[in-house]
Parts: sequence; structure tokens; C-alpha cells
Amino acid sequence: MATAAREADEERRTAGMVRALTFLGIESSCDDTAAAVVRHAPQSGEAPRILSSVVEGQAALHAAFGGVVPEIAARAHAERLDHAVERALAEAGLALTDLDGIAVTAGPGLIGGVLSGVMLAKGLSAGTGLPLVGVNHLAGHALTPRLTNGLDYPYLMLLVSGGHCQFLLARGPEDFRRLGGTIDDAPGEAFDKTAKLLGLAQPGGPVVEVEAEGGDVRRFRFPRPLLDRPDCDMSFSGLKTALLRARDALVAEKGGITVQDRRDLCAGFQAAVADVLAEKTRRAINAARDLAAVTAIAVAGGVAANRTIRAGLEAVAARAGLPFVAPPLRLCTDNAAMIAWAGIERFRDGGRDGMELQARPRWPLDRTAAPMLGSGKRGVKA
Ligand code: KG4
Ligand code: ZN
Repeated sequence: MATAAREADEERRTAGMVRALTFLGIESSCDDTAAAVVRHAPQSGEAPRILSSVVEGQAALHAAFGGVVPEIAARAHAERLDHAVERALAEAGLALTDLDGIAVTAGPGLIGGVLSGVMLAKGLSAGTGLPLVGVNHLAGHALTPRLTNGLDYPYLMLLVSGGHCQFLLARGPEDFRRLGGTIDDAPGEAFDKTAKLLGLAQPGGPVVEVEAEGGDVRRFRFPRPLLDRPDCDMSFSGLKTALLRARDALVAEKGGITVQDRRDLCAGFQAAVADVLAEKTRRAINAARDLAAVTAIAVAGGVAANRTIRAGLEAVAARAGLPFVAPPLRLCTDNAAMIAWAGIERFRDGGRDGMELQARPRWPLDRTAAPMLGSGKRGVKA
């Protein structure tokens, strides 16, 4: 590039870094149809503001099938996305012409849903001339603590939900180092399967947590997989098998399980997940500190709502002398405000996409990390 062109480019980038930006975010990678508007005016010293955040869940559509059905999800996104965008703009009191850009989840996720969002974003960008920024869904989760708590890079992030489970060292809007993760199920998935095995309602996490409150945590000692390995990788599928065996032993012995048996099983299961997450977090903090001066540890994902798990993580953070940050639950679970924010961050970093933006079913955040085995209930995500 010629010097003048490079300087002009640099000037534009610098202006973009400090200029107030208002972005529309679009999210449709799983079973939530979401749109949001986020504004950030860094010169004013203000924290970013979520002007609106619309999330239309699809739980009722998938309830009869015991999991998310990709075709049903894609169709529902295609039908509801433009409505969600209209609502997000109306709630923000803005028109498309008031925006500075459009951010959209371009992966990883269920491809039909991701495609619906990307096509809509491209249409809006082509129609308005607004810049288009493709966002990695996992980056959306991982950058949320900057939106909610203004965390400085680098920080350690634990994503823990029904579809994700990984430790990330966040060093910049597009600079993530994966330190470890599950090699099979995600913890939320294990909670959901546990609920199913015990005849409890879905999603299983909150129900199992309530059951566990009345249970004896010492009665069933379930395995803590992979703690014998020094790394930050985790495994949760064996836990579910152990629970199944314990349940079947009770059934064989007494012909069924009592309410107290169920509570004790839930307590034992939850304690095992909490122990694994706490111990692996302790190791991830050490691994992160070997690479960078981390400012904090943050969590995102539905499982982070669990009080026993959260208390375990808080204790580990306190022992390591690090602040523990957990964004409000509505921003920990899938939403489009995190996508709008990640779009603003990427845009400030010079990130732009054109009509060639691809929807990607897989998109690891850390391209240097070895691919993980296994998959979550929503398919292999990263
Ligand atoms: O982040 P999320 O809403 O969606 C994705 O998976 O992307 O997480 C949902 C998962 C479900 O598996 C649910 O059972 C789990 O989070 N979950 C919980 C709790 N609340 C939700 N797991 C354990 N304890 C909870 N209180
Ligand atoms: Zn997610």
C-alpha cells in the first residue's frame, strides 16, 4: 500500500477507535432469535450502553423432541429475525440510519440458523451501506465482561454452558488462547442428561440444583474425571454413566428410587462437577499467568448461574488474588448485545466484512489449538 493510502487508512482506524459507535447485533446460532443495539462513546468516559436486547427463545418449539432440532430452529430464525431486529430498533428508539454498523454471528453454530442471520445482516448492510462485521459467537461470550464490567485485557475466561466448556485467555478482540476445555460433553449437557435420567424437567441445570439443596453430598462419591492429568482439559460424559449406574443399583435393590435418593444423587453429581470446574480453573489460572499478567477471571454461560459451582470458582479466584467477574445471567446466556459489542470491538480493531462473509458451522477461536474431540448437544462447536 502507498504511504498516503496507509496513512489515510490508519487515520480512519484511529478515528474509529475513539468515535462513538452504535451497532446492531444479530444472533441466531442456536435456539435463541436475538437482536440488540449497543452504543459506546469512549471519549465521554462512559461505559458501553445496551440500548435494547431482544431474545426470543424457541424452547416451546423443541420441547417435544428432547433437544434442539436444527431444521425447526433455522425456520423459526428465518421467520422471526426481522421482527426481532424491528423490536430492538424500536426499543432503542433508533432507525437503521442512526447506526454505525451491523454485527452478526457468523459461526460457530447450527448452520441453518447462522445462515439466516448472516443473510439478513448482508441484506441490511447492502440496503443501507452500513459496514458489516461478522462475529464469532464464542468471542461474543468471551468479550461480555468488557461490555458489563469494563475488564482490561488480558483476562481469563471460563465459558460453561450447555454447548460450550473452555478456558480462554482473552488478549484482544480477536486474540484468544484456548487453554483447555471439555473433551466430550459440556457441563450443562451433563446437568440436562442427569435430569432426564432422574425423571426431572428440562433444562436440567436449575432443577438439579434445587434437588441438590435437599441432598446429602457425602452419600454418592462420583468420579472427578481427568484430575489426574495436569492440564486444563475436562470430561463430563463418564459422570453421567456413573450416575446411571448408581440409579440402576438403587432400582435393582429396592425397585425404585425415593425422593431422598434423587436429591442425594443430584447433590453428589453437582459436587463432582463443581470440584472439577474449581480445580481445573485453579490450573487454568496458573497456565494463564505463565503467559500473561491476567487482570481477572470471568465466567459466562448458563451453568455459571449454579450457586455451588459459582462459590467454588469464587473461592479459587480469591485464593489466587484475582477479581471474579460474572456478568448478569441474561448476558451470560445467548443474546445479541454480546454480538453487537464484539462487533464494535472488532470494528475498532479494523475488522470489516463484505458480501463474501461466510456462515461457519465450526470456527475455533484459537486457530493454533488442537481440535477438540467430541461434541456438545448442539453439535461440535469449536
Ligand atoms: O448458556 P446457555 O443458556 O445456553 C447454551 O448452552 O448455549 O446454557 C444453558 C445450559 C443448560 O444446559 C442448563 O441446564 C444449564 O445451562 N444451566 C444450569 C443452571 N442453569 C442453567 N446448570 C447448572 N445449574 C444451573 N443453575
Ligand atoms: Zn452461546
